[in-house]
Amino acid sequence: MSSIFQYKSNVDKELEFFFDRKIEGKEGIEKDVIKALKDFTMRGGKRIRPLFMITGYWLNSDIDERIIKASISLELMQSYLLIHDDIIDQSDIRRGGPAFHKLFSYEKKVNEGLAIVAADLADAYSHEILLENNFPQERLNRAMMMMSETVECTGVGQLMDIVMPFKEQVTLADVTNIHIMKTAHYTVNGPMRIGSVLSGYKNTDLINDYGIPLGIAFQIQDDILGMFGDERTLGKSVTSDFEEGKMTHLIILTYKLANESDVKFIKERIGKKNISPEDFEQVRDIIRKCGALEETRKIANDYYNKAISTIDKLTDDKEKRNELKELADKMVNRTA
Ligand code: IPE
Ligand code: IPE
Ligand code: MG
Ligand code: MG
Repeated sequence: MSSIFQYKSNVDKELEFFFDRKIEGKEGIEKDVIKALKDFTMRGGKRIRPLFMITGYWLNSDIDERIIKASISLELMQSYLLIHDDIIDQSDIRRGGPAFHKLFSYEKKVNEGLAIVAADLADAYSHEILLENNFPQERLNRAMMMMSETVECTGVGQLMDIVMPFKEQVTLADVTNIHIMKTAHYTVNGPMRIGSVLSGYKNTDLINDYGIPLGIAFQIQDDILGMFGDERTLGKSVTSDFEEGKMTHLIILTYKLANESDVKFIKERIGKKNISPEDFEQVRDIIRKCGALEETRKIANDYYNKAISTIDKLTDDKEKRNELKELADKMVNRTA
């Protein structure tokens, strides 16, 4: 096997097949919403979570059709989490197109209602897919329990993220804890653990030492791209993190490292809508100039190193070790 990424197209095919099955015979608003869910899911997305689930399975078994089919469960989880997240964050762009709550042309309340319920449907589908793939009962039970725990962590992380801008003092430790809860579990750790139990892998708990730090590094990179990335490549807004007042490593370190007037400049603008392009460029300049960007990159790299230092414990197979390293590289060295 050359790379786990070769399975992305299989995952896409299974997703397409699943949605077509759901659309068949439907009409009216039900059909419109499922079709919109299909377009939203198929329109982009790196498919990281299915690929980590397949990787987890591969730790103890060859990759087969069953795990590829089951892995789309986690992409549907991603769809429902993103749909809700974009309403929460008032982000209007996702995967290079309108966020789900911007897809219909009713009034705001109705559009958001449709998005919330579409996400509920995706949640139901996510369970259905995992259940219908005939894994041994005991493994399946464990996998379902892990899936619930993963979503529970994500929910707690999202709650903490929502109230974070209102906390008086936010530390790097607070931000890291949120990264673990809202991102690391559902992006890397949960998917790998779920895949691994389905193949009867014994050392499931060792995966945490790889999955959690890598998930943190992934979210720090997301925060960097969320301010310094290219909007078109990224497919989402690069001002919305700042406008929503998100406290990130970049901001906390800038408060620590920048001079008083630069910090004041940022504090007067963060958390407010419609920042001008000039002001935003100045904010970015301050973050670069004071060394916060560099320091943030260094922290992400430290977490990446922590993750890859555990690979040898997960498998003796050289090819699999290389693959885990390559996956980790792609999580941090990415532009989208
Ligand atoms: C976005 O996840 C949400 C975060 C946890 C940062 P991804 O960056 O994996 O988004 P897609 O699925 O590729 O669009
Ligand atoms: C997304 O977090 C995490 C979940 C969807 C659970 P963010 O709000 O930081 O991610 P983006 O930047 O919107 O993708
Ligand atoms: Mg968001
Ligand atoms: Mg969010």
